[in-house]
Amino acid sequence: MNTTGLKIEFLADHPHWVETLASWHHAEWAHLFDEWTLEIARIELADHATRHSVPTTLVLHEGGQLLGSVSLVIEDAPELQGEGSPWLASLYVLPSARGRGHGSRLVHAAVNLAAKQGVECLYLFTPDQAAFYERLGWTRRMRTRLHGNDVTLMDIALPMANAA
Ligand SMILES: CC(C)(COP(=O)(O)OP(=O)(O)OC[C@H]1O[C@@H](n2cnc3c(N)ncnc32)[C@H](O)[C@@H]1OP(=O)(O)O)[C@@H](O)C(=O)NCCC(=O)NCCS
Repeated sequence: MNTTGLKIEFLADHPHWVETLASWHHAEWAHLFDEWTLEIARIELADHATRHSVPTTLVLHEGGQLLGSVSLVIEDAPELQGEGSPWLASLYVLPSARGRGHGSRLVHAAVNLAAKQGVECLYLFTPDQAAFYERLGWTRRMRTRLHGNDVTLMDIALPMANAA
């Protein structure tokens, strides 16, 4: 596909997308978190939009249209905080734009950003996308339960050579 117009940039450089992203994220994941309202999702993303380091969010867009996002956060689910930090979180691609490599691009961008910021190991949990992450180099560590949902905890070691 032609990827000439695709850009992955910091939400901090496109803060007008905070509201849209908050509604996408909340509709997708509210069932996994206690008391995570749309307003809290908006506040968290508005905070991410103030910086270019963890916790932060990257957006993928093309021709002025927002297509997806990924976040790097210190804590994702409090129940899993003892397993490690930081976390790749909130990977989301607009349904009509899926299956064109955008999810993979966003994961690569987040991993590269973490490596540049000196992170040695990055974590994530996923209810149903473990095979997708495995194809991108992530390792399954354990299965656990989160608010009645089975989730897989995964990690990826980041080569120090990539660190800035
Ligand atoms: C998961 C998600 C981000 C993938 O986005 P995407 O843009 O469709 O991903 P890609 O196009 O980069 O997919 C890359 C490849 O993985 C494959 N793939 C996608 N989901 C997969 C899965 N669950 N298991 C195995 N392979 C998968 C795709 O078919 C594609 O294969 P190809 O390269 O041979 O065509 C997207 O489906 C999404 O936003 N889902 C809802 C939110 C979500 O579940 N986020 C992850 C939370 S942990």
